[in-house]
Amino acid sequence: MDLIDFHAHILPGVDDGAKDLEETRKLLVSQKMQGVSRVVATPHYLKHTSISEFVKQRDAALELVKNEIHDDVPQIIPGAEVELYYGFTRKRHLERLCIQNTNYILIELPFEFWNEWIYEELYQLSVKHKLRPIIAHLDRYITTVRNLKFVNKLLEKDVLIQVNAGALLRFTSRSIVKEFWKRDALTILGSDCHDSIGRKCELLKAYTVLKKKFGEDVLQKILENGEKILKNQDIFRY
Ligand SMILES: [Fe+2]
Repeated sequence: MDLIDFHAHILPGVDDGAKDLEETRKLLVSQKMQGVSRVVATPHYLKHTSISEFVKQRDAALELVKNEIHDDVPQIIPGAEVELYYGFTRKRHLERLCIQNTNYILIELPFEFWNEWIYEELYQLSVKHKLRPIIAHLDRYITTVRNLKFVNKLLEKDVLIQVNAGALLRFTSRSIVKEFWKRDALTILGSDCHDSIGRKCELLKAYTVLKKKFGEDVLQKILENGEKILKNQDIFRY
């Protein structure tokens, strides 16, 4: 399988992910061994920070990786995991936070206090900024009944959803993810790896489980969605 990791904190020293170049190297080598050919580097973009400053730091870290790591590793595509907050879409140049050369932007929702403003911000991202939000690790939010209601509402829309590899490896979260596919949600997978020991990349294991438990069709659909995103093509439910 030729895999894409859409969510990875692999860049050194920019967030709570890889703390140095050696950790970055270990993560990238592990991804390569799992069949990952492309990794979207998604450091945390935290609310109210300067987009220019974020991009500058991210690109400097990426440059360092390219210059210093000479192992056979996956191609790294710059992106961000963008913390959504009330008023975010009033900012300009949000397109700089997208996956490089696309209009797709990985959005992290708050873990608490979900409210109508979230839909308004997502709507403005699409309408005002002409961007296409991908909701990061939706599997991690289903902790309260209140959130469940919001997740269900999100699933009714044509929003793209990124699922964490780890969610497929645990029985309880796997049943949640199963719901996404039963409802024909548009999904892609990411490892959300932060380091080589605790929050590591388990993408290959996840795809193997996916194929076994959910079948070849779901697997192919997810791989196809991923390729389309990197080509900046539209993804539709039907
Ligand atoms: Fe993350």
